[in-house]
Amino acid sequence: HASMHISALPQEVMVRLFRYLGPEDLCRCSQVCHSWAEVVKTGSLWRHLYPVRWARGDYYRGPPGEPDQDPDEDWVRNLQEEGRAYQEWDEDADVDESEEACEDSLAVSAVRKEKKLLNGMIQNLLPAVGSSVRTLSLAYSSAVSSKMVRQILSLCPNLIHLDLTQTDVTDSAFESWAELGVCRSLEHLDLSGCEKITDYTLKNLSVGLGDLTAPRFSKNSPDCKNKLLKTSSSAIQLLDRHSGYSLGRARTALVFKWRPGGRGMSCSPVWVLDPTELADIEDTADWTRKEGVAGLGEGRGGILGVQAGGRSCCCRSGTRRSFRTDIGSTYFQQLYGTLGEKQCGHSACCGSDTVLRTVKETQCEPQATEGSTELWTKCPSEGEIRTEQSGACRALRFLSLSGCYQITDLGLRCLSQGGGLPLLEHLNLSGCLFITEVGLHELVSVCPSLNDEHFYYCDNINGPHADRASGCQNLQCGFRVCCRSGE
Ligand code: FES
Repeated sequence: HASMHISALPQEVMVRLFRYLGPEDLCRCSQVCHSWAEVVKTGSLWRHLYPVRWARGDYYRGPPGEPDQDPDEDWVRNLQEEGRAYQEWDEDADVDESEEACEDSLAVSAVRKEKKLLNGMIQNLLPAVGSSVRTLSLAYSSAVSSKMVRQILSLCPNLIHLDLTQTDVTDSAFESWAELGVCRSLEHLDLSGCEKITDYTLKNLSVGLGDLTAPRFSKNSPDCKNKLLKTSSSAIQLLDRHSGYSLGRARTALVFKWRPGGRGMSCSPVWVLDPTELADIEDTADWTRKEGVAGLGEGRGGILGVQAGGRSCCCRSGTRRSFRTDIGSTYFQQLYGTLGEKQCGHSACCGSDTVLRTVKETQCEPQATEGSTELWTKCPSEGEIRTEQSGACRALRFLSLSGCYQITDLGLRCLSQGGGLPLLEHLNLSGCLFITEVGLHELVSVCPSLNDEHFYYCDNINGPHADRASGCQNLQCGFRVCCRSGE
């Protein structure tokens, strides 16, 4: 019988085959020919990104592990040593940029490789597949800069899991979050050891997560009509945002139907999708989008190479951005107005009236004393949060600010606004030296799902759930801020 050339296989089959390959092999494939390069740029192949590991030959690309899993100590130590070596090399290179200065050690070359990989991703890969990325881990990266993080966040609007543990990022990395409203789907944020982070980032984060206290998505409001009209052609993107792959369960997606002759909108949950089927739909959308677009930057460096130019993709299209920007920037201004820039950040100093007002404004109004099992009966259920409110989710389940010692009560208050964090289970504030029990109480009062076992803060604060919460985690750590580290 006649033999068939591999190029005759349909794209769906090629994608299935490519799923067995790691990122390095995918890059090689992208250099074979134009059509393979197109298939490699299929979103479902790039759900979970671990550039720090990839630069060191570990090509894992599955979902992230359990949040409480401690990282391998040797691995962490190696990365820290590499970071130090790279820093020294970088300082020397500023003085002497000759070829000899590039004679680097293994440690330096690993970090340089990582930097090249990150640049390649930002320029060539993420513009094409950014909207499909769910996980990004840059933990212990010495190469990543705030500018890179800012670029990545703007290219990956549907991130669910972001790990920036022990990186040098500053507040500027998160500037675009609020403006673009790109962290609505975020569930896991690890900023452990990011010592330069201040309340400003928490303010941006809170704005970016959306406002559950905003007016409901009334079917007949003109605002609703406009939003629905803008999104009606993007059912696949809506489905994408609601896929919930990491929770291992299918979710109901909202499909909006606009009936021009009718009197109103029909906003009904109608589709329940298996995440694997969803991948196929997304892939098809990817290919459709790419049709007619030639030369997607598969230059000499391959898809992750640094030589070819990038391009825009649907996640950055005007419709979607403007839809989110409107909501984000309005709330951003409100939040600024509410908090003022000149407060010291300690709730105790800023006046208890404000604290009380803040708590009362939230949806999850606390009643009676803490610890009561009926305390949170007024909270909307998860389904309600995701589907009935005005696009806001505030879906954060994990937040670590361990060692972010510049955080104050003002930052915690930012998080408690907009409806608090109704799904937050894990909160690590170890080493946050400037927070007080007042700020902690304020935040915890709007985190009904918080699990005391996964609630960490300084042992010297007599804060909420003091008898059940876990203490500070940083005492034994050795490289993260702790008020008792000298003991
Ligand atoms: Fe106080 Fe660690 S920060 S015990």
